[in-house]
Amino acid sequence: MNIILLGPPGAGKGTQAARLVERHGMRQLSTGDMLRAAVAAQTPVGLEAKAIMDRGELVSDEIVSALIDAELAALAPGVGVIFDGYPRTAEQAVQLDAILAKHGRKLDRVIEIGVDEDELVHRIVGRYTCATCGEGYHDDFKQPKLLGTCDKCGGTTFKRRKDDNEETVRTRMVEYRAKTAPILPLYEARGIVSRVDGMAPIDAVSGAIETILAKA
Ligand code: AP5
Repeated sequence: MNIILLGPPGAGKGTQAARLVERHGMRQLSTGDMLRAAVAAQTPVGLEAKAIMDRGELVSDEIVSALIDAELAALAPGVGVIFDGYPRTAEQAVQLDAILAKHGRKLDRVIEIGVDEDELVHRIVGRYTCATCGEGYHDDFKQPKLLGTCDKCGGTTFKRRKDDNEETVRTRMVEYRAKTAPILPLYEARGIVSRVDGMAPIDAVSGAIETILAKA
């Protein structure tokens, strides 16, 4: 199964994608993660993307679609994919169709995670991850059981994303409303969109997604 998780910054796309990976052995393709890795490695793509990401704007369609194409080319055909943070523009949606066809795949479902945008700023500004294993935490919603020590791997170093500040988050939301939300009707016309309430607790959101996938 190939699915898109669609929603504004902080909606919970990454959180839910990680759970689907654990439960179903699917592959999470997060263009945000790929771009951050490129920035860290100072590749040509990373050097081009860095300032754009720091401002909260969108990196070019060609760059992100090339990243997705390369990942799918390297993936075994039977492994299901979760697109997390891609597509984000009408052009990327068109490119995704072509890329999926090229790799003999089809899009099964688009799951829109609906949220209250004011709450999102709080969610994003408070989040951080374990620098060793990437496990996600939040200042208010999810602290490690032993403060300062990762529950999953025992690591003691944590990091925050540079674009997780209020000003950049607001720009990311403007970008979402202007460029990403308008692609939903395209998928609605195909009858493949389902919605979940992203304001519900994380487990409840996961349960709703499981129900949708079981019926798909
Ligand atoms: P990207 O990394 O994709 O960021 P984003 O879309 O802004 O999404 P986030 O990762 O911030 O949020 P999320 O929905 O995954 O939420 P999460 O699960 O972490 O993109 C970053 C940048 O890269 C972009 O701005 C752009 O520059 C560039 N980029 C990436 N893809 C691109 C593309 N296709 N085209 C062009 N440019 C691109 O959850 C957030 C927090 O909330 C966590 O702390 C979590 O624990 C908590 N939480 C989650 N769910 C719940 C819940 N139900 N209740 C309470 N807390 C919750």
